[in-house]
Amino acid sequence: MKIQHYQELKGVSAVLFEQTKISGISVKNRIIRSATHDGLADENGAPSDKLISKYEYLAKNEIGCIITGYAAVSKNGVSPYPRMLKIYDDSVIEKYRELTSAVHKHDTPVVLQIAHCGRQTSSKAIGYQKVAPSNVLHAFYPDKAKVLDEAEIYCIIDDFVSAAAMAEKAGFDAVQLHAGHGYLLHDFLSPYGNRRKDKWGGSLENRCRIVEMIIKGIKEKTNLPVWIKLSAEDNRRGGMRIDSSVEICKRLEAAGCDAIEVSCGTVQDGMNTMRSELMPMDAVFKYREPCASFPGILSKVALSVANLVNPLIKQPKPLENFNVDNAGIIKKNVSIPVIAVGGIHKSADMQSIIEQGKADFVSMCRPFICEPDLAKKLKNGQLAAKCIMCNYCGLVIEKEPTKCLYGRV
Ligand SMILES: Cc1cc2nc3c(=O)[nH]c(=O)nc-3n(C[C@H](O)[C@H](O)[C@H](O)COP(=O)(O)O)c2cc1C
Ligand code: SF4
Repeated sequence: MKIQHYQELKGVSAVLFEQTKISGISVKNRIIRSATHDGLADENGAPSDKLISKYEYLAKNEIGCIITGYAAVSKNGVSPYPRMLKIYDDSVIEKYRELTSAVHKHDTPVVLQIAHCGRQTSSKAIGYQKVAPSNVLHAFYPDKAKVLDEAEIYCIIDDFVSAAAMAEKAGFDAVQLHAGHGYLLHDFLSPYGNRRKDKWGGSLENRCRIVEMIIKGIKEKTNLPVWIKLSAEDNRRGGMRIDSSVEICKRLEAAGCDAIEVSCGTVQDGMNTMRSELMPMDAVFKYREPCASFPGILSKVALSVANLVNPLIKQPKPLENFNVDNAGIIKKNVSIPVIAVGGIHKSADMQSIIEQGKADFVSMCRPFICEPDLAKKLKNGQLAAKCIMCNYCGLVIEKEPTKCLYGRV
């Protein structure tokens, strides 16, 4: 009682820091590190020692649970960003086991996010032809995707299931399917990315089929809880909207899904998924092609022009807590735990999100890039994350390991 009073005085929420469970997994609080590509896998796609230390540091500092960066389930599902995690070859299991052991030493669960990048990658960069449910042009990766045939769809289902089986062998506490941000599973769920006329497209039931089969397949082959991250709204013409996302979530729960993380947007409108007041133009010209390869003088002129027009570019709003309302709507319609992500950075907001029943857990990405010990600081009374949501880190990953440029922006 005394402790609770002291925490309230310091503005620290007891409900945020209570020991609880998510999909049967014990967590020391309701704060989750949302999946973050760290760009620190080794050449085989296994976690490097640097990545293991990074995760151990998060775990040591009171985080409730860690979701890894996305790990590719097959060769043609890899990201164009360097050093992505991969999980399609047994040889990586040992190194993943080192990672889970390091995190578990601190009584922290760790969830492997498994993904297929679909058409949101570049065939040239990954060395394999990219695939998609339908051939829809991607503004950043305009090379043509091969439209998946039925046999290839079954292969992808198997790839996700065997990735989960490897995750179980490696000691992960759960897997999270990345079905948001424009990647392959998002494209299947969304009428924008999925223009198929067969049993994998058209009706909501058909669009959900691949994800439902993956969930059921994982449940049959492993004892792992299966979480999902999806974009409840995606800004695409005819794409994901909250009403149909609610129906999708109900179906996924019925298929055995154990927790839902509610996000938004796609990489094409990355400033929607991770919002910022302005485009980080310096970083665009340093890390994003073709701008990064502009010769010196052209680069300088183009950057000056870009900086001039930057304030005129309309950015999605609000900048804070931007998926919380959708999380609340989904939460009212399912009985599994719901996690809200996106622009959450004040401890008072985290507390009210939980207390008002908008979500059961909150997750953050950029705030933990900026302050990996943030959970501990919040517990000790820090009121807000120091991340300024400038999005430089979101561009850095196109060429280098993830880092915060705070202090240099
Ligand atoms: C550097 C960086 C890497 C990211 N990597 C992933 C990823 O691997 N998987 C994923 O689902 N989301 C990824 N995201 C999106 C975040 O998980 C999160 O949904 C988004 O940044 C909004 O949360 P925030 O406001 O707390 O940053 C990434 C975001 C950033 C900035
Ligand atoms: S670069 Fe740092 S301050 Fe900027 S958004 Fe990323 S983590 Fe936050």
